Amino acid sequence: MNAKIYLVIGGTGGIGKAIVEQLVNKTANHTEKNTHVFATYYKNVPDFEADNLHWLPMDICDEQSIKQAVETIAQQTDHINWVINCAGLLHSGTQQPEKALRQVETDFFLKNMQVNALASLLIAKHIRPLLAKAERSNDKPAIFATISARVGSISDNQLGGWYSYRMSKAALNMGMKNLSIEWSRSLKDMCVVVMQPGTVNTQLSAPFQSNVADEQLFSPAYSAECLLEVLSKMNASQSGSFVDWAGESIPW
Ligand SMILES: NC(=O)c1ccc[n+]([C@@H]2O[C@H](COP(=O)([O-])OP(=O)(O)OC[C@H]3O[C@@H](n4cnc5c(N)ncnc54)[C@H](OP(=O)(O)O)[C@@H]3O)[C@@H](O)[C@H]2O)c1
Repeated sequence: MNAKIYLVIGGTGGIGKAIVEQLVNKTANHTEKNTHVFATYYKNVPDFEADNLHWLPMDICDEQSIKQAVETIAQQTDHINWVINCAGLLHSGTQQPEKALRQVETDFFLKNMQVNALASLLIAKHIRPLLAKAERSNDKPAIFATISARVGSISDNQLGGWYSYRMSKAALNMGMKNLSIEWSRSLKDMCVVVMQPGTVNTQLSAPFQSNVADEQLFSPAYSAECLLEVLSKMNASQSGSFVDWAGESIPW
């Protein structure tokens, strides 16, 4: 049997690291034979290792860096079963999400679009040949998943604000819907999905947790477990969906 191969982008982030840890442990837990995990890091250097874990540097704002990482992976495997992009941007050391129109600035807006929207398209462009060769196990599709956000839903927007983040996640959702249509014509058994992870206790959400009830603030481990469970039940007919951590559909 071929190995089951995962690629996690943003593997040192809050949710990304929890996903990497759970995937890596699948073989040790005997829930899956012969699992290998490729995981990418950016500024934060990985602080854990495992025999079946392969770290690679990747700046998702630099197409050459994406291409280079995929070439390195292709030297070690002929296929990838699942790609999960967990990289994202809401705030930086100097910039916070906008509360009002007067705070909108070009550089921060474009950075959000690059990290949150464009990157998944570029990753898909370069990883496609490896995904196309994924072995179908138990009729399960290959997966291309990106962590989006409920605030990217246009019809769900009741509060306003966060222009750059909301617009970039809405653009991501459209890009992944488009991709699901294109790949449904050219690839068999492929599922493209965008996901809301819940409100998760990470550095990304840390400045905005004061109004979140304790029971609604998920640990990264819990969110990762839920997201992986949802992905494990996906089939190709669900390609192009926007779902939350419980597998519930979110309106566009
Ligand atoms: N936390 C929540 O409540 C929540 C809610 C809804 C949606 N989300 C979404 O979930 C995803 C993961 O968020 P998180 O909470 O885990 O945030 P996080 O802890 O801040 O992780 C973000 C990850 O993105 C990586 N990244 C940023 N810019 C990058 C670049 N140019 N190239 C490569 N990697 C880059 C970071 O790498 P470095 O650490 O090396 O900089 C980090 O690994 C994001 O898409 C976020 O929008 C989170």
